[in-house]
Amino acid sequence: MSGLPEPTAMGQDIAIIGGTGLTELDGFTVTGEYRVDTPWGMPSGPVLKGVFRGQPVLFLARHGHPHRIPPHQVNYRANLWALREAGAARVIGVNAVGGITPAMGPARIAVPHQLIDYTWGRGHTFFEQVGDAPLEGVTHIDFTYPYNESLRQALLTAAARRQVMVVDHGVYGATQGPRLETPAEIARLERDGCDLVGMTGMPEAALAAELGLPYACLALSVNWAAGKSDHIITMEEIGQALEEGMSGVKAILEEVIPDLRG
Ligand code: HPA
Repeated sequence: MSGLPEPTAMGQDIAIIGGTGLTELDGFTVTGEYRVDTPWGMPSGPVLKGVFRGQPVLFLARHGHPHRIPPHQVNYRANLWALREAGAARVIGVNAVGGITPAMGPARIAVPHQLIDYTWGRGHTFFEQVGDAPLEGVTHIDFTYPYNESLRQALLTAAARRQVMVVDHGVYGATQGPRLETPAEIARLERDGCDLVGMTGMPEAALAAELGLPYACLALSVNWAAGKSDHIITMEEIGQALEEGMSGVKAILEEVIPDLRG
């Protein structure tokens, strides 16, 4: 990895980054905590090491536990760095999103295949100078496939086995937040080709790619995006859809983890 320090040990573990509605994983036996101050600052919390479905798994709550860090203030660089240091070999990000196109209604789960980044001002790359250590050179990673295809397929297979209905593709539009969008902004995202809108998909996916960590996203739609229903978006409807859809997300995670070892 050009210019970046290699991790202390090569990891083998599956890491799950839990988003809104997933600050804890049922059935996850915690065996240790990894608290690390990275060159990029502190992650959202300790990386929990543990066993889930008989496999070593790492878990990090993206917004902290309890949920307190807003999407634009998550230290995505520290999170990804800490996961790699803790031994992550692959990363599954769970993200709550709004649905834009007809298949993406509340409580629906999607495994996106592409993304568009509308975020700004976030620490979004490891390839810039940190502290006194100068960069060896300028690095541009390829990002043709922002989501790892074999990890995506593993999630889809797991969903099929558990008979959880998922949309097997989608373009994730990452917005800055923390406010929700205007209908005009959503109409623009739709013209751009976005199916889903969320605030946390980027720069997480790009940072995983910079570290060479295969990454995929399990997106749970928790509301129709602004202007896509006949009412404004309420926290009650988001809470309801989270409750309804999260059992499917958990079933997919339970099913996929044993497939991913090694
Ligand atoms: N927009 C952006 N992010 C979101 C939404 C939304 O409608 N719902 C959940 N996360």
